[in-house]
Amino acid sequence: MDYPSAASVSVRLTAGGSRLGPFTSNGQILLPNGAPTVIAVAALDAGGAHASGSLKSVAGGFLGRLTLANGTLGEHEALEQDFAKFFGKRAATIFTTGYQANLGMIGALCGPGDVVMLDAESHASICDATRLSGAEVVWVQHNSPANLAKKLGRLPKLQRNRLVVVEGLYSIRGDVAPLREIVEVCRQYGAYILVDEAHSFGIYGERGLGWSEEQGVLDQVDFLVGTFSKTLGGVGGF
Ligand SMILES: Cc1ncc(COP(=O)(O)O)c(C=O)c1O
Repeated sequence: MDYPSAASVSVRLTAGGSRLGPFTSNGQILLPNGAPTVIAVAALDAGGAHASGSLKSVAGGFLGRLTLANGTLGEHEALEQDFAKFFGKRAATIFTTGYQANLGMIGALCGPGDVVMLDAESHASICDATRLSGAEVVWVQHNSPANLAKKLGRLPKLQRNRLVVVEGLYSIRGDVAPLREIVEVCRQYGAYILVDEAHSFGIYGERGLGWSEEQGVLDQVDFLVGTFSKTLGGVGGF
């Protein structure tokens, strides 16, 4: 699908024949308009030929728009369908920021009585989301599938939903998760897994989809979260 360009979106803001400025956007340093957008597209191109055509449309059309302020358009729903298709998942939801994507996802999936297993180096959005969900938090040593297995093994069997949350590429240390081993442990102990690809989306994988794709476990990861504020240089999350 062809999305409207940033320019055509602003052309819609007219009243009484006068064109209005789009003050509901939060495009910083003019990234949505013009040349710098090409940087985001180039970064995605480096991720692989297959998806770059579609992701170019995303970069060209949606940098700088805020659903919360401007409303949900048919194009947003089309973007969600495209995202679900890119990742081979049943559905996708676009959020106003990556922070809200974690809040929305973890909050929707978990509540009191559930357990969320968090890596010790988790981003603030993941920690806040888990606290707000009311689920029990179990901390796991950073990037340690063995420690994860030990802690999952201590939980009462199948009495509560368990969600393991990891990042593909960690924001503070810059290291990557041993995802194949972590997915294996999750399967072994009947836990769901959510991977935050905020820093790895557009960087890793044949189609630039992130660390799960690079590790060949995209189809075994239950939930994915990402942001448009890193590689895409915009605002929004999924
Ligand atoms: C791992 C991780 N998840 C989520 C986010 C939130 O993304 P956003 O900037 O779109 O709110 C960030 C932002 O720094 C992040 O590093």
